[in-house]
Amino acid sequence: MNVLALLQRKLQDALTGLANDPAAYSGMLKPAQDTRFGDYQANCAMPLAKQLGQRPPDVARTIGERLHLEDVLETPTIAGPGFINLKLRDEWLARQVRAMAEGDRLGVAPVDTPGTFVVDFSSPNVAKPMHVGHLRSTIIGDALARLLRFLGHNVVTDNHLGDWGTQFGILLYGYKNFLDASAFAADPVGELARLYVFVRKQMKKVVDAQGEEVEDANDPIAQAARAETAKLHSGDAENLKLWQQFMPHCYEEIERIYRRLDVRFDHTHGESFYQPMLADVVRDLRQHNIAQESEGAVAVFFGEKDSPALIQKRDGAFTYTTTDLATIRYRLEKWNPQAILYVVDFRQGLHFKQLFDIVRRWGYDNIELQHISFGSVLGEDGRPISTREGTGALLDSLLSEAVAAAARVYEQNQPEEVSPLSEDERRTIHEVVGIGAVKYADLSQNRTSDYRFSLKKMLAMDGNTATYMQYAYARNRSIFRRGDIDIAALRDDPPPVLLTVAEERALALQLLRFPNALLVAASEYKPSAITSYLWDLAKTYSGFFQNCPVLKAETPELRQSRLLLCDLTARVIQRGLDLLGIRTVERM
Ligand code: ARG
Repeated sequence: MNVLALLQRKLQDALTGLANDPAAYSGMLKPAQDTRFGDYQANCAMPLAKQLGQRPPDVARTIGERLHLEDVLETPTIAGPGFINLKLRDEWLARQVRAMAEGDRLGVAPVDTPGTFVVDFSSPNVAKPMHVGHLRSTIIGDALARLLRFLGHNVVTDNHLGDWGTQFGILLYGYKNFLDASAFAADPVGELARLYVFVRKQMKKVVDAQGEEVEDANDPIAQAARAETAKLHSGDAENLKLWQQFMPHCYEEIERIYRRLDVRFDHTHGESFYQPMLADVVRDLRQHNIAQESEGAVAVFFGEKDSPALIQKRDGAFTYTTTDLATIRYRLEKWNPQAILYVVDFRQGLHFKQLFDIVRRWGYDNIELQHISFGSVLGEDGRPISTREGTGALLDSLLSEAVAAAARVYEQNQPEEVSPLSEDERRTIHEVVGIGAVKYADLSQNRTSDYRFSLKKMLAMDGNTATYMQYAYARNRSIFRRGDIDIAALRDDPPPVLLTVAEERALALQLLRFPNALLVAASEYKPSAITSYLWDLAKTYSGFFQNCPVLKAETPELRQSRLLLCDLTARVIQRGLDLLGIRTVERM
């Protein structure tokens, strides 16, 4: 049951016949800031009164009377200049919470009209070591895919690997000139990574107009590497064979990281997959007069001020944009999606703006195209962690560091758990806590902001961290172990919920907000709406737990009711974390 949605719907009904545009006002009903006056508050009476030329308190009262929610709400009260305060009836609240315990959806109804969402995420350029910049895309994309799927949508995840780009020219050049054959035989992934870094280091750098150090296009090694890429693209047998030889090692490398992050893809159609379709895309766009020839190249123009997007270079090479256009056409034909989400760094903002524009002109206007943009990961020094700063930025070593730090924190704070945990269990805990901390720290940020990567902060035992949530979960589970409670029975036939003190009521109310938190996270593509919700839930639960004895409750009925509230809290935390791709353990 989505309480907010119910109240907004009823408010809209109440306003029908009263306001010209009832829907415009129903969004003005929100959870109350100050819970002393009610659970929800609507401030629509003021603007409406102005429109109607009446006094706001009178309008507020009329709206209150027209709500017709006597079984759900106490009589609405009017405060200040015309705020309508709504308080849920305890009996109704208790019934809803009890209903939430039944089944495994925790009160979250599947969407009425499921659609297909393609989520394009992670998408690293392979052949170079995966770097912390790919972390955000991987974590955010996976969370959105899980969330949309849970809400009942059909989700297709696709890892749009950069497996055809200039980095292969660098590798091919390195392989032909600097290969350490025995190192390659022993550890192909390591040797390829070494070659990549080695060749990049040889290239001369220049400072560009923005003061950034970039590769000098005239550098002979850069030219040679470009020539290798061109040969690969034009079908050169030797380069193609080497490319085929490199690819399994590239996959192996990224797969290892995905396994560690517990991330899977339905498809991994890299850029190379679309090569056979590119010429046709260019032909089609020219035929429809969307692309024009310009100085020997083919480009799409966007008006005077904006730079054009190249879809074929003078030397005949296709571009990143061409590939993305072919990709969209393929996805539309294959899956007929309602939306495609591109979870990609904010730096590619212009690329996606132009891409979407071209797609519209191409005639595909019935699809939602979203660039799910995100900010940079900053080091402790406040500067973006970039590939060039050495191994600290490599994703794999970063994850290992997080797990090592998690192990230290965990072992130093060995909680109350009575029976000792095995070596294996503890290793699992370190991994779950370490990886969870990294993911949660990322997802709890406002997606579009930069954030500072601080292991210490992300592993804090108190505060808005995965570690805190995972502990809250495990501690909660320990109540059931200590009391030897039959959890299945509690869920199959939930006992009546009793709201005898304020803390129980607050917890019940917060639990019931779960469905809405998920809807907000999905409609704004903002996983942080889930972490904020979980953080509020954890705080509310902690207030409840401090004030309400559970196993030692005064009566058996109260004990059952409180056990149910505890169990629901644990389930919501677990589900919430799961939707973020974060695991929990029963004991820690
Ligand atoms: N491989 C690109 C990069 O690392 C990201 C690809 C994103 N997806 C896409 N369809 N363009 O910058």
